[in-house]
Amino acid sequence: MEIIIAKNKEDFDRIAADIVSQQIKDKPDSVLGLATGSTPLGLYAQLVERNKKGEIDFSKVKTFNLDEYKGLAKTHPQSYYYFMFKNLFGKVNIQPENINIPNGEVEDAEKECEEYEKKIKEAGGIDLQVLGIGHNGHIGFNEPGTPFDSITSLIDLDKRTIEANSRFFDSIDQVPRQALSMGIKTIMQARKIILMISGKDKAEIAQKAINGPITTDVPASVLQLHPFVTVVLDEEAASLL
Ligand code: PGA
Repeated sequence: MEIIIAKNKEDFDRIAADIVSQQIKDKPDSVLGLATGSTPLGLYAQLVERNKKGEIDFSKVKTFNLDEYKGLAKTHPQSYYYFMFKNLFGKVNIQPENINIPNGEVEDAEKECEEYEKKIKEAGGIDLQVLGIGHNGHIGFNEPGTPFDSITSLIDLDKRTIEANSRFFDSIDQVPRQALSMGIKTIMQARKIILMISGKDKAEIAQKAINGPITTDVPASVLQLHPFVTVVLDEEAASLL
């Protein structure tokens, strides 16, 4: 694992944006795996700015998002579909047909997951996967206990995840209980991975994921087995390393 500790927030976003931009420059038809959450917001803002300036071109880029809540409409402000269009896709020159996000509105979520996994394979696999991490060590919505060989599937959200994400909803009862998520095996098949960790509240889990035992209790610890992972942390998140 390559560990990079950013000096400040701006540096944190810039380092991540440099890695993604370089990927797009090296391979204009890159397949990117993308994450939602507060952590990559600054990265997406940087990518939008660089696209506006003509420094990076999304016209041939394909994307696959990690996950989506089950049961939220695309128009729901807390759906990941909505998040991605608001923060990235609606502001760069990506072709709509190149955007992939699991559809949380389908009746048959298992079938949707199977097809999603197939679509990633047909696209040639993910070149660069962007990841955040949950306080419980989840990557995507792969909660503690998820087997390392899991593929895209319908999962039950952990109590801690429901609580953490309730900050975006009017009440905790409105947080969906299930989500469609790429599996750990799906994530590990990406050629390169960038794991972004920020904030003091993530310091403990960062330490466990990076230096702790490789265990399904801490899903992100599996990344220690991947040959090309860059972990970008801010000083607070890196404080216990
Ligand atoms: P956050 O979420 O970036 O909003 O902290 C990360 C995650 O749960 O994976």
